Amino acid sequence: MKAARIHEHGGPEVIRIDHVDIPTPGDGEVLVATEATSFNPTELAVRQGIFPIGLPHTLGWDLAGHHDGQPVVGFVDSGAAAEFTVAPKDRIVPAPQSIPLRDAAAIPLAGLTAWQVVEYVTKGQKVLINGAGGGIGSFAVQLAKRKGAYVVATASARSAEAVRKHGADEVIDYTRRVPDTPVDVMIHLVGTPPPWTPPARELIVSAAALVEADVPSKHVVMRYDRDTLAELVEMVDAGLITVDVTASCPLDAMAEVHRKAGEFRGKVIVTTR
Ligand SMILES: NC(=O)c1ccc[n+]([C@@H]2O[C@H](COP(=O)([O-])OP(=O)(O)OC[C@H]3O[C@@H](n4cnc5c(N)ncnc54)[C@H](OP(=O)(O)O)[C@@H]3O)[C@@H](O)[C@H]2O)c1
Repeated sequence: MKAARIHEHGGPEVIRIDHVDIPTPGDGEVLVATEATSFNPTELAVRQGIFPIGLPHTLGWDLAGHHDGQPVVGFVDSGAAAEFTVAPKDRIVPAPQSIPLRDAAAIPLAGLTAWQVVEYVTKGQKVLINGAGGGIGSFAVQLAKRKGAYVVATASARSAEAVRKHGADEVIDYTRRVPDTPVDVMIHLVGTPPPWTPPARELIVSAAALVEADVPSKHVVMRYDRDTLAELVEMVDAGLITVDVTASCPLDAMAEVHRKAGEFRGKVIVTTR
């Protein structure tokens, strides 16, 4: 089978499409015939060696495919960027039926991270979502709105319309204006700290760069949670949230996807067959 792997750390050129044996599931694991994974910018850090991993390493955390003929979506620690993936049983759930299976690969990491940052938001609060145009941001805006928050979102021109469609009450173009309207909670989803004073009165929640401020702050690292993933899938099928897929590329183009990171908005799907 084909697998997008790295044998050393470095630039996008270290990503190779290797032909390797189909993996064999062990106890408590299942084999998934993978349809797609999705690109997550944190994998740039894996490729660069900023996060310690064993080599060779098969890329891909988000997983959409078939297990025993049933469409599933899931999250694995590595290996989804391949034609077959071994996943612990509890890491997959039935896939949504209302969107293409491939697009479901956009849900796990971004959706779960968004869910876990939005857990700090309560009904009626005013929330600033900084980085709302990205994969996590698109889910975070929708989930915060569903919780009854008033959402102020930052987005550049290319993402403003999508962010508004996701329900943001106000969109601030961060390339032109500093978000300085006071809010209760700020959610930070950008890899660098904001170069402005966070206007949060109560709390800053970051899933990305740490933010220095005089108010309490939380840093969220996504914890896999099967029930929440299943709930996100149900919400997609119920039309309560939409999945913001903006591009799709074949596995062979994985190095190109890494090269072009930052040029995309929303979620990019990488199809494996
Ligand atoms: N803690 C965790 O468990 C966890 C999990 C996954 C990811 N992450 C991290 O969370 C961050 C977001 O991930 P993601 O998957 O959502 O990334 P992404 O899809 O690549 O998000 C990119 C978006 O960030 C926006 N952006 C870039 N610079 C900005 C700025 N200065 N101000 C406001 N928005 C800006 C852009 O929006 P426009 O299109 O509007 O320009 C772009 O669309 C990354 O740093 C990632 O490494 C953390």
